[in-house]
Amino acid sequence: MFAKVKTFTLIGISAEQVDVEADIRSMGLPSFNVVGLAEGAVKESKERVKSALKNIDFNIFDRPITVNLAPADLKKDGSHFDLPVAVCLIKASGMIEENLENYALAGELSLDGKLRGVAGILPFVSSLPDKTKVIIPNENVKEASVLKNIEIYGFDNLSEVIEFLNGNKKEAYSEEIVFESGLYDLDFADVRGQFFIKRASEIAAAGMHNILMMGPPGSGKTMIAKRIPTIMPEMTIDEAIETTKVHSVAGLLRDNKGLVQKRPFIITHPTASDVAVVGGGKDAKPGLVSIASNGILFFDEFLEFKKNVLEVLRQPLEDRVVTVSRANRTVVYPANFMFVAACNPCPCGYYGTEKECVCTAAQIQKYRSKLSGPIMDRIDLHVVVDAVDIKELNKLPEGENSLKIKERVVVARDLQKKRFVDEKINYNSQMSEKHIKKYAKISNEAFDTLEVFHKKFKLSARSYMKILKVSRTIADLENSEIVTKKHILEACQYRFDNIT
Ligand SMILES: Nc1ncnc2c1ncn2[C@@H]1O[C@H](COP(=O)(O)OP(=O)(O)OP(=O)(O)O)[C@@H](O)[C@H]1O
Ligand SMILES: [Mg+2]
Repeated sequence: MFAKVKTFTLIGISAEQVDVEADIRSMGLPSFNVVGLAEGAVKESKERVKSALKNIDFNIFDRPITVNLAPADLKKDGSHFDLPVAVCLIKASGMIEENLENYALAGELSLDGKLRGVAGILPFVSSLPDKTKVIIPNENVKEASVLKNIEIYGFDNLSEVIEFLNGNKKEAYSEEIVFESGLYDLDFADVRGQFFIKRASEIAAAGMHNILMMGPPGSGKTMIAKRIPTIMPEMTIDEAIETTKVHSVAGLLRDNKGLVQKRPFIITHPTASDVAVVGGGKDAKPGLVSIASNGILFFDEFLEFKKNVLEVLRQPLEDRVVTVSRANRTVVYPANFMFVAACNPCPCGYYGTEKECVCTAAQIQKYRSKLSGPIMDRIDLHVVVDAVDIKELNKLPEGENSLKIKERVVVARDLQKKRFVDEKINYNSQMSEKHIKKYAKISNEAFDTLEVFHKKFKLSARSYMKILKVSRTIADLENSEIVTKKHILEACQYRFDNIT
């Protein structure tokens, strides 16, 4: 007998429909073949399905069985094929009554027939026509319920699925998604003093400018970086869905997690490989640049990273998407993150502080050599963070809280949204020279001030443009149409040109 059910395979953060077809012949030698460009986990699916079915007393493997995954020219990967293959076999053997035309299934099986959560469920349900009935592991129902037009049925094991398809009805899962605010446990109020770096973080968040902080150990760089998501505007529903899809494909939502509402904050350490950062590998999975999309990607100990890792960051930083290639497939993932980096001023960490620095001039120069690399060209704000004396700090009052700072950031973001409505960009940091000429709106006095600074520090053309972009954001934070001298003077402070 023949049966067919629907499932999916992933291409980037989209899902393509795959039909699982099973044919069980009544005569012939026992065999079990899966055809249709099955790769990796799908090939192994055969063994899991066989054991799971045997363990729930479905002994159909004494006959010739063929499973086809259509369309044949599309590569299929993922452990979620187990459930559709198993259900299709049971249907083909005549032991399921329900017509499966309106159903779509996905889930991994353990050898004893339990269902395990899988990656890619949100892209899967988003690709289905309205009113489709979806059968998935219970671990994935929260994620699937982000979309309202689909009927979701979650189960813990294969036997329950079969009982359901044979008339043991149950309610579709539904959960009202409440869009929450104030989701963060951290707050800028915890950071005492350090007004300069806090202000730089506000400007960075307002114009989506990448930022590099340089300072001695314990000066609060990591503490501040972690608080930047708390001053960014709330995610829109589209941003939240996009982020959830990436996290789903990366397999981060298996544990019954739903819509990702907090902006991601991803810390990367110098031991990270280039594949871990940009994505790829055997199964073309998204990397940290995509997982951080719509949030922050934080490179701690920035100057300790290997050159090849910094090299591969260039494309996503420029394009805000990343192209991941695997043997004969290329997928594109979003990579719309704000880049935040932190480093020490020298290998021992104390150059320029009251503590004695034990590094030689040559060591310091070598350590800082990466500061002129290609990634530095993509970082608009360079900030020197001063050492702090924790005892003294504790005497200072609490800082301004994240909510207050966020209000100013939101004003600046709204102005940018209006400004760039007819352009292909969204933030001041993305402005090209053409945009800067059109939108910077700099006063004569401000222009003269920039010229003085330009001559004094022999600014490169690139630095000159960055100061203009950053000063546009500073003006936006004040809701000012015109960039004035004050804005230029402040923007000039966020450059390392005088120390590298
Ligand atoms: N401005 C501050 N206000 C309150 N606490 C602070 C401040 N700066 C530092 N601290 C305290 O010091 C701790 C260490 O700070 P943090 O880890 O952010 O330093 P860092 O600059 O990242 O150091 P490293 O270079 O070693 O990574 C923080 O967890 C916090 O408790
Ligand atoms: Mg740190």
